[in-house]
Amino acid sequence: MKSDATGRVDDAPTGVFAQGMSLEDKAALTAGTDMWTTAAVPAHGIPAVRMTDGPAGARGPNRSPSVALPSGIALGATWDRQLMVEVGEVLGHQSRTKGARVVLAPTVNLHRSPLGGRTFESFSEDPLLTGQLAAALIRGVQSQGVAATVKHFVANEAETDRFVSNSVVDERTLRELYLLPFEIAVKDGRVQALMTGYNRVNGVWCGEHRELLSILREEWGFEGFVVSDWYAVGSTVDSILAGLDIEMPGPARTFGSHLADAVRDGRVSEETIDAAVSRLLSVFERIGALDDDAPGEEVSVDLPDHRAIARRAAQGSMVLLRNESVLPFDVDSLRTIAVVGPNADQAQIMGGGSATLEPHYRVSPLEAIRRRLGDRVEVTHEPGCDTTVTLPSLDIDLDEAFFDSDGNEVLRRKASTTRFLYFGPPSEELGDRWSMTATGVFTPTDDGVYEIGLVQSGRGRVLIDGEVVVDGVANPPPPSTRILGFGSDQIIGRVALKAGVSVEIKVDLSNESAPILVGAVVGVRRKPADDLLSRAIDAATKADAVVVVVGTNDDWESEGYDRTSLNLPGDQDELVRRICAANPNTAVVLNAGSPLDLPWAEDAPALLEIWFGGQEMSDALVDVLTGEADPGGRLPSTFPLRIEHTPAFGNFPGENGEVRYGEGLLMGYRWYDSRQLEVAFPFGHGLSYTEFEIGLPSMTIGQTVVVETEVTNIGDRRGVEVIQLYVEPVDPDVMRPRKELKGFEKVELGPGESTVVEFVLDVRAFAYWQPDGTDYGAAKERQASMQISAAPDEPEELKPTGWTVDPGKYRVHLGRSISDISHTVEVTL
Ligand code: BGC
Repeated sequence: MKSDATGRVDDAPTGVFAQGMSLEDKAALTAGTDMWTTAAVPAHGIPAVRMTDGPAGARGPNRSPSVALPSGIALGATWDRQLMVEVGEVLGHQSRTKGARVVLAPTVNLHRSPLGGRTFESFSEDPLLTGQLAAALIRGVQSQGVAATVKHFVANEAETDRFVSNSVVDERTLRELYLLPFEIAVKDGRVQALMTGYNRVNGVWCGEHRELLSILREEWGFEGFVVSDWYAVGSTVDSILAGLDIEMPGPARTFGSHLADAVRDGRVSEETIDAAVSRLLSVFERIGALDDDAPGEEVSVDLPDHRAIARRAAQGSMVLLRNESVLPFDVDSLRTIAVVGPNADQAQIMGGGSATLEPHYRVSPLEAIRRRLGDRVEVTHEPGCDTTVTLPSLDIDLDEAFFDSDGNEVLRRKASTTRFLYFGPPSEELGDRWSMTATGVFTPTDDGVYEIGLVQSGRGRVLIDGEVVVDGVANPPPPSTRILGFGSDQIIGRVALKAGVSVEIKVDLSNESAPILVGAVVGVRRKPADDLLSRAIDAATKADAVVVVVGTNDDWESEGYDRTSLNLPGDQDELVRRICAANPNTAVVLNAGSPLDLPWAEDAPALLEIWFGGQEMSDALVDVLTGEADPGGRLPSTFPLRIEHTPAFGNFPGENGEVRYGEGLLMGYRWYDSRQLEVAFPFGHGLSYTEFEIGLPSMTIGQTVVVETEVTNIGDRRGVEVIQLYVEPVDPDVMRPRKELKGFEKVELGPGESTVVEFVLDVRAFAYWQPDGTDYGAAKERQASMQISAAPDEPEELKPTGWTVDPGKYRVHLGRSISDISHTVEVTL
């Protein structure tokens, strides 16, 4: 290990890769050149390297269609490490098809509040579950020659004020909760890259946080590179000295040539730049990127294997919350199924923000049910209510043409959706001012008034058969949080159309007033009827079975802002109540990325959570509804009874730019369990179609504590169970959450089959973090010198800082959720 003149400590292979390079070349490598690409240094054989967004798939710079995987919370609900390796392999492979060698995934921030805008994107409220699933996914990604980028380091759990907020978190809470998934990603996942958050932690910007970045490198042995979140770098010297290696995106605003200047005028040593460059290049070497000439072409590859893995992941994520013998449906006995709800004919398969991508295909629940059962059963549909915010875009063939400021056509290509998003000009020849037009054909299915919506980042308008219907050029709408915070409010125009009579739809868009991200979302739909609810009740009454698909969508749950309520949007509560009353053979399906308030839950004959499940979600739903697959998911986060009960209530999303993590260690189920608060559905909960018995555990105590138990499928069909192990300290010396997850194993067994599951508990399973007690010690010395109290004979020794296991008794619980414990054994350490 060596420390340079400016105080930065490095244990990287300093200089190895930087040898012989000019200061300018090295500095250039510390910043991107555009939105996704690092600099090339051809004289030294270093190619440009492309990055792509994740985590729900590899988006690629031009948004070419890709495998849409289930969102983070759905992956969290699988509790399946082996599956995560396979999901990671798909993500890694898909990243390569986008010419990328770095994928900006996974997101391992925790579900501190169910209102967090990016809750859908991250795995769980528990750090161990999050960390172990993330590590498995990372190993899968990296097996494909792609560096995974664990993000956002750290305490980045709210979107409100996201570019400036300050997370105020105590040391123990940071160590035991929020840092832990990163630690596991580094130690078990051997992750090659890490992205710092936009936020501050205890007053210091994440990208300038020496203390946190030195935990990463010196304590955990991280050997990869640290990249800023997009546009987050605010300083040249402080950031590089703290340990940030590369500023993204480019061109450089604070690193790059600014760092070369800092070296020249002595503010930063050249060895510091060498170390950063070495870390970056050693990752590129490890993943094989230095063998590329340049980033490969971006293509779309849709493979049967990838579909199958995405399908298994979606099936394995679905959580059966309640079931009064309604599911699985006995399809042979059904003549009609009513598929009801605002999400029934919409494929709400992902949340909003940088995790979005163009999927290979979108299939709505209605479409999947019709396709799979339509030849045997009559399938009817009613939306029941309207929760639309941004009108649904059209998936149609479009001709896209791009023009420079003189109106010369520079590029022409095909597009397949009326959602347009450009993270930079699609061609360098377009110059600073450019525009595009997209033209396609729309054929209405019904007569009536159609609403045409436009959200813009830039200046746009929509023309139907040559007539301007919505005009954001003449009347630009005010800004909003849409399009990653760069978009406008939606403006809506109306036009009368006839069923079967095709019209030309043309979108004009320029980059005027959109310095960073240019885009437009153009939506089209027939104006909804006024009697949606009564029509849905009527359809439900007439059907033999009902599937009500309720939830949110990527407007309600998105990066860029937090939710303001746990409630289902619109009139969905009323819809569910009325449908359940109208037909007892009803399955309520929740299609959302976060926990929701479900005041009618006890009246739902069956309740199935399908999350935002990616491109295979709707087919996996049919698999589960019909019993072709067991609902394999278990809750990765608590469903509280009401928002007022949640641990962060009163401290979320914070105020005046400050987010106080006031609940400390009692986050997620740790809060409800320790305080013995009733919840709607507990952490870890989920039903199978079969039944399992967890046998009496045996325990062997040595260097580790090994717990074994036999699990038997005592039902009459194949199924899936997740055995969860929680540790509870008995009479701890310090405040400890009551029970904490320390192990989990997922098993799949046929009827009558048994298997033995084993949990190995090391020291950390019993440990807590002892914070630095220097201040406490000094205060006690001062107290003694003031003779306020009699000095004890033996001065009390302060515990050393670090992971500490107090001797004493611990209970080890095995069960099916935090509140469904089958067996408890005691161990004395
Ligand atoms: C997000 C990151 C993302 C990056 C690039 C940021 O706004 O916070 O998660 O990877 O943009 O799209």
